Amino acid sequence: MDLQLKGRRVLVTGSSSGIGEGIARMLAEEGAAVVVHGRNRERATKIAHEINAAGVAIGDLSTDDGAAAVHAEAVAALGGNVEILINNAGGSSTGNTTRNPIEITPEDYVSNYHSNMLAAVRLTRLAVPGMVAQKFGRVINVSSAVAVQPNNLGADYSGAKAALNNFTVSLAGALKGVGVTVNTVSPGVIMVDGLIRFGRKKYNDETMSFEEITRRLVEEKAFDLPPAGRLGLPEDLALVICTLASPRSGFVTGANYRVDGGQVRGVN
Ligand SMILES: NC(=O)c1ccc[n+]([C@@H]2O[C@H](COP(=O)([O-])OP(=O)(O)OC[C@H]3O[C@@H](n4cnc5c(N)ncnc54)[C@H](OP(=O)(O)O)[C@@H]3O)[C@@H](O)[C@H]2O)c1
Repeated sequence: MDLQLKGRRVLVTGSSSGIGEGIARMLAEEGAAVVVHGRNRERATKIAHEINAAGVAIGDLSTDDGAAAVHAEAVAALGGNVEILINNAGGSSTGNTTRNPIEITPEDYVSNYHSNMLAAVRLTRLAVPGMVAQKFGRVINVSSAVAVQPNNLGADYSGAKAALNNFTVSLAGALKGVGVTVNTVSPGVIMVDGLIRFGRKKYNDETMSFEEITRRLVEEKAFDLPPAGRLGLPEDLALVICTLASPRSGFVTGANYRVDGGQVRGVN
């Protein structure tokens, strides 16, 4: 099937590594003009060269100025407005994995709100007017399974992602009939380099495979394997995102797509 992504102007935030890198890679394979983003120019440039991207845009999205710089650099590299915005940058800014909701400080809640919710809001505010003017646009927000099924720990992160899901639905409704769709994609546990590095360090084995790390972590009950029987890979997310980004996907908006191997037990 031709997803009609050839030549479409795309910014994938947080594409210097992990899930974002996988998304940028697949969109570029589909012929889109992709801008790779991260906070580190060297890392982003390396990926951009590998996937033959249109360019890079560098900046910290937890500030207004950083987001404005990223948007300006992306528009310059693309030679036009951002038509498809993938708000993927994020992750727990505090790394809280052991503290319960009342042990986490207000500052930590605010920090995660800035880097997960407002990072997406800032860029969306900058990119959507051009999409509306062009009568075509796609905004895809990368959230998390924990937004709808939170753990007891890490509420600063999961709460910020829940707000992002909420923002998606409001914006989709507000952009009625203008050709711009807004959706959320929610990963479960995805094996990114950071998790592989964590596993290799934990087990003191620099060559340990993805499968072996998964087996050991499951054995230690760090998490359960979801019904799919394995953990996710960046390309699992990228496949769904390419579909939602396609000009052919105009009837899907305000939705939350779970890409979690069946981790979240919900009927919706
Ligand atoms: N991996 C999972 O299991 C999982 C599960 C659920 C949800 N997610 C979500 O998926 C997204 C990608 O996660 P990942 O696991 O692929 O993480 P990752 O490998 O750590 O990559 C995160 C990317 O986001 C960028 N980034 C982070 N904070 C930023 C900020 N304040 N401003 C600008 N760039 C920022 C990083 O840039 P630098 O190169 O500058 O660091 C990097 O490119 C995140 O939104 C995360 O919450 C991941």
